[in-house]
Amino acid sequence: MTLPIAVLISGSGTNLDAIIRAIEEKRLDARITLVISNNPDAYGLDRVKAHNVPYKVIDHSKYPSREDFDAALITSIQESGARAVILAGFMRILSPTFIAAFPGNILNIHPAILPSFAGSNAQRQQADFGVRLAGCTVHFVDEKMDNGPIIIQAVVPAYPDDDGDSLSKRILEYEHRIYPQAIHWLAQGRLTIKGRKVVVENAGAAQALPENGVLINPPLEEGF
Ligand code: GRF
Repeated sequence: MTLPIAVLISGSGTNLDAIIRAIEEKRLDARITLVISNNPDAYGLDRVKAHNVPYKVIDHSKYPSREDFDAALITSIQESGARAVILAGFMRILSPTFIAAFPGNILNIHPAILPSFAGSNAQRQQADFGVRLAGCTVHFVDEKMDNGPIIIQAVVPAYPDDDGDSLSKRILEYEHRIYPQAIHWLAQGRLTIKGRKVVVENAGAAQALPENGVLINPPLEEGF
């Protein structure tokens, strides 16, 4: 059944764009009831205007407390008819009250292989640390930041000359693929949370991975 979703953004909105495209191309069985930006200057708002998608600015700086801001978010989302909340580069921490308002129906994308490199500037954190494998994660949102049960992850290679920007670009390409996929699974009712784990009903058997399911970068040379 088509899932009514609200998408929350703060910035450039490329994930929002990927979601809109996946819906328009009928790959993702969802309908955006409302896009909310807490940032009046978010470039993502310009993207929304190019499509037939309702949007609203709810500026956190205009509210006396996080609770008041979250209450305004909850009201707008519920009034829009959304049943799930999609965080797409939304840079505010949500209160337990917000989480409780949409149980099991809030998704986030994080540009790292969680639980490594949680928090902000994850791409730069990974580049500075010198990881060889970076990536992105879509997960359910719980009360701790970047912590909820994991739905899907993509691994991308990282190189010594990467910086936050180059890594960000490489990771984003896969964010734009795994986020619409995860939302589609949610829309299809195929996600079950069992403790920390998420079962994806009828998920393919690691077909997207290399032959033996192991990603090694740099690649091993002959004899190893
Ligand atoms: C993405 O890297 C996402 O993983 C992170 O914030 C960034 C948002 O990018 N949470 P965009 O606004 O979707 O372009």
